[in-house]
Amino acid sequence: MKKVRTIFVCSECGTETQKWFGRCPGCQAWNTLVEEKVNTDRVETGRPGLSLAGDSEPVSITMARGSEKERIKTGITELDRVLGGGVVPGSLVLVGGEPGIGKSTLLLQVACLWAEKNGAVLYASGEESVEQIKLRANRIGSLSDDLYVVTENNIERIAQMADKLEPTLLILDSVQTAYSSELTSVPGSVAQVRQVTAVILEWAKSKGIPVLLIGHVTKTGSLAGPKVLEHMVDTVLNFEGDSAHIYRILRSTKNRFGSTQEIGVFEMQETGLSEVANPSQLFIGQRAAGATGSTVVSTIEGTRPILVEIQALVTKAGFASVPRRQSIGFDHARVAILLAVLDKRAGLHLENQDVYVNVAGGVRVVEPAADLGVCLAIASSFRNLPLDPGLCIIGEVGLSGEIRRVSRLELRLAEAAKLGFTKALVPAANFAECKGMERLKTEGVENIREALEFAVGR
Ligand code: TYD
Ligand code: MG
Repeated sequence: MKKVRTIFVCSECGTETQKWFGRCPGCQAWNTLVEEKVNTDRVETGRPGLSLAGDSEPVSITMARGSEKERIKTGITELDRVLGGGVVPGSLVLVGGEPGIGKSTLLLQVACLWAEKNGAVLYASGEESVEQIKLRANRIGSLSDDLYVVTENNIERIAQMADKLEPTLLILDSVQTAYSSELTSVPGSVAQVRQVTAVILEWAKSKGIPVLLIGHVTKTGSLAGPKVLEHMVDTVLNFEGDSAHIYRILRSTKNRFGSTQEIGVFEMQETGLSEVANPSQLFIGQRAAGATGSTVVSTIEGTRPILVEIQALVTKAGFASVPRRQSIGFDHARVAILLAVLDKRAGLHLENQDVYVNVAGGVRVVEPAADLGVCLAIASSFRNLPLDPGLCIIGEVGLSGEIRRVSRLELRLAEAAKLGFTKALVPAANFAECKGMERLKTEGVENIREALEFAVGR
């Protein structure tokens, strides 16, 4: 009989303790220890992820293998771009995202294209029956003789099947539904997720075959499971989108083999996901042509740049009534401050005007770098002058009307250029950082007056 003992594992750093602590002794985070049951006769292989170091010998870096030629293209350009040019053999790629966003659909499409090009692919699902997978494959036309599917949750059995089939790619849907018989805890628990990943990591590295893992995300949008899961894999991709819209964005938050600044854009259609070659079309497409009171700002969400449209509507307030100020998706108090700055520093008198500000698409912008975009949207609506549709606006507005420098300007500009913008209004203080941008014409402004002159004229 297997001997079972209780341990506590930190969901952030993976530290194991015998006792429960309010604060993790490893990473000092509060309330992260969760109870796990483990077999005491489990064979310790050392830290997962490092066990593969084994008996290898040091080699000179100039002699070491590893060239760009080794990357294998998935056949989906948008995905290859995010991966940094294709999948590296033996690497572990984790694809996370909300339920129903299209992770299984994306990877089934990858599986089929891959099978046709490179040979056998094993798609192991712990979430759907083979019939369900077949139905989806029929619908999206992902059928190939070399695509093998199986419904299996046990990670050791999946590894055995993979050993027998010798696929050129292994897909696991999902890491939270798989379990290892080494542990008694339920699938999806911290220890199981870690163990499953460790088993698959060793398999991938020893065979030199890439593995794509699907991961669930929690309510807050982070990947469910321990942070160590993200540390163990080579690449973490996030599949994002909004159920109300058809577009989906693939971003990488970690990539050992490429940049994390690339995004891939897809459209969910009746017949599966299709790539969007020109993403700007999708985003600008929803902007009304020549509309006044509309600007596009480049904001940073966490570590990622996102372009959003700011809309403003300025109308004459009712006689003898207090002017209304409403804002959706942007801080109310900040709008009041910006209106005061516009009044005092730019001579834009809005005291008898109702002002409505809205961030299109239900997004929330908390960054001060969107200030200038909000000011110009308001000015554009007030003056009834549309802005240049190819203009992207970046800048924080200070109380003296000065345009303050923003962080990571290059990243913001790169995103704007990628999405088809041709001009950008940026803080003059940041201007030196724009040197490398050939695709985007940048204009540096010192204060709100200059910005207004540039965007809506006097
Ligand atoms: P799915 O890949 O099952 O999502 P996940 O694995 O991330 O949970 O995608 C499910 C959704 O995608 C479902 O709500 C229906 C939609 N869908 C389409 O619109 N078109 C299609 O061709 C397919 C296969 C799915
Ligand atoms: Mg799924």
